[in-house]
Amino acid sequence: MSLKFDFSHHSFLITGGARGIGLEIALAFLESGARVAIWDFSSESIESARKALNAHSSRTHFQTVDITSADGIREAVQSLPFDINGLINNAGITRDKSFAKMTAADFDAVISTNLRGVFLVTQSLLNRFAFSQTADKSPNAQSPSQLGGARIINIASVVALYGNFGQSNYVASKAGVIGLTKTWARELGPKGFTVNAVAPGFIKTPMTDAMPAVALTAMENKIPVGRLGTPRDIANACLFLACGESSYINGATLSVDGGLVV
Ligand code: NAI
Repeated sequence: MSLKFDFSHHSFLITGGARGIGLEIALAFLESGARVAIWDFSSESIESARKALNAHSSRTHFQTVDITSADGIREAVQSLPFDINGLINNAGITRDKSFAKMTAADFDAVISTNLRGVFLVTQSLLNRFAFSQTADKSPNAQSPSQLGGARIINIASVVALYGNFGQSNYVASKAGVIGLTKTWARELGPKGFTVNAVAPGFIKTPMTDAMPAVALTAMENKIPVGRLGTPRDIANACLFLACGESSYINGATLSVDGGLVV
């Protein structure tokens, strides 16, 4: 179950929402009553997400979109059936190699999705945000049913904060996303947006489930709270950053990592 947020009057768009963390974010917002648009480039993942989210099908809208394609994004924005109160830029890829072996193609592919994609998607959607220029900035605006503006939440990574072996491309892309977050917080803040980043740590996924127990234990030992994160931990952070109570948080990067980066 999600925290007690009421987004029944709000709509959110989640990129990469057909699988993994993005799917859990979609589910958390749907459970909180929101209408959700899911953009993903994998038709296969969209089909399984459609089944997983079947209970909320009347409030879920799927679009097959490749966020590396400016034309594809433009078409998807045009056919988006509703304006949105919030965007969660979640789609991301890795293509890990040591710095010495990483090719320019490896670098470009990750930057193109994780950084350029976030830029293109957000810019293309600017006119589809549902908020008023005269957003209520009084304390009364801090109610979950009244966001007091529009929300952009970018999924970064803890590795953007401390670097990581074999991830020059990925770390550069996620550090770039944090830079975009701060810049948009300044540019879009006066227009009624808040823009924040979430930096997940080690999150339990099918990939980590397949790791040898000894490697998992070593990983857990590095995390002060003694466990891996779950996709729901990340979704909960997104719910909070989307709600009225967080309307004074702007330009922040929220680490959700059990204290890993401390
Ligand atoms: P995932 O690989 O399970 O899901 C990513 C989704 O994005 C997939 O459904 C994929 O089809 C979609 N996607 C990828 N490229 C796309 C494109 N060009 N256009 C449209 N959709 C595209 O990944 P996961 O683990 O759920 O990660 C989600 C986000 O969280 C990513 O931004 C990732 O970098 C970030 N993250 C994940 C961590 C983890 O431990 N899993 C840790 C830190 C950050």
